[in-house]
Amino acid sequence: MPQTVLITGTGRPYALGFNLVKRYLENGDRVFASVRRPSKALAELQNQYQGTLHILNMDIASTASVNAAAAECAKLTDSLDLVINNATTASADTMKELPDFDLDLVAPAVNVGAVGPIRVLKAFLPLLKKSAIGALVVNISSEAGSIGKCYRTFYLDYGTEKAALNMLTMTMHNYFRNDPSLNIICLHPGWMRTNPGNNEAPLVPYEHAETLRLLFEKKRHDKNGPVFITWTGEPYPW
Ligand SMILES: NC(=O)c1ccc[n+]([C@@H]2O[C@H](COP(=O)([O-])OP(=O)(O)OC[C@H]3O[C@@H](n4cnc5c(N)ncnc54)[C@H](OP(=O)(O)O)[C@@H]3O)[C@@H](O)[C@H]2O)c1
Repeated sequence: MPQTVLITGTGRPYALGFNLVKRYLENGDRVFASVRRPSKALAELQNQYQGTLHILNMDIASTASVNAAAAECAKLTDSLDLVINNATTASADTMKELPDFDLDLVAPAVNVGAVGPIRVLKAFLPLLKKSAIGALVVNISSEAGSIGKCYRTFYLDYGTEKAALNMLTMTMHNYFRNDPSLNIICLHPGWMRTNPGNNEAPLVPYEHAETLRLLFEKKRHDKNGPVFITWTGEPYPW
């Protein structure tokens, strides 16, 4: 049965969000794809999938923007079966170390990368609670958010936002533990070829999006398995 899916950060055709949108559409699902600015690639895809692809404007840094997008979405659907919090950010200083890093860039990154997904969860919760199959929320995290495996001396913004996202995911997982209407996990998706100038990464977003789509269905009702997993479904150290 087709499901209704919300995916954030979907405007870049070479990145993961856009390719997840494509895979769900190809599977016959109905997709709400959010962007913070217009995307030509997504508009073209919408021409191909009229009626099943809806574009929402949503800046996950802003509660007002997320609430407005949820209200817009609620005009078009009664329920959501899956939310993929894919949108993320990194500052211009992300590769710099302490002496050169502007520390005022950390909090805004955490606001987008960690608080943003939970803003989305809170605003879209009434729709998620109405899923007929039991809703799943997937927060796309990263190995960079693992404190246990941290080896870097940079990523002061990105690593912190992903670690905070992991903590918020586990806290929400606990909150919904006894609620069969919703499950929530976070995922290290692996190193993907999402930077047009860099073909070194092993995983191709379009191929990989299908691997993730199939994995998410295995995790929909799994309340007792690992909460922070890799793209193969293995647990990743917090
Ligand atoms: N690429 C990898 O190898 C890798 C590895 C580990 C984890 N990940 C994670 O996997 C996910 C996808 O990665 P990616 O490389 O495909 O991502 P990406 O190319 O960096 O795309 C991020 C998306 O988030 C959007 N975004 C940024 N700030 C936003 C905001 N305030 N509100 C709404 N949207 C916002 C961006 O929109 P604009 O286009 O408007 O800027 C962009 O579409 C991310 O969560 C990333 O951290 C990626």
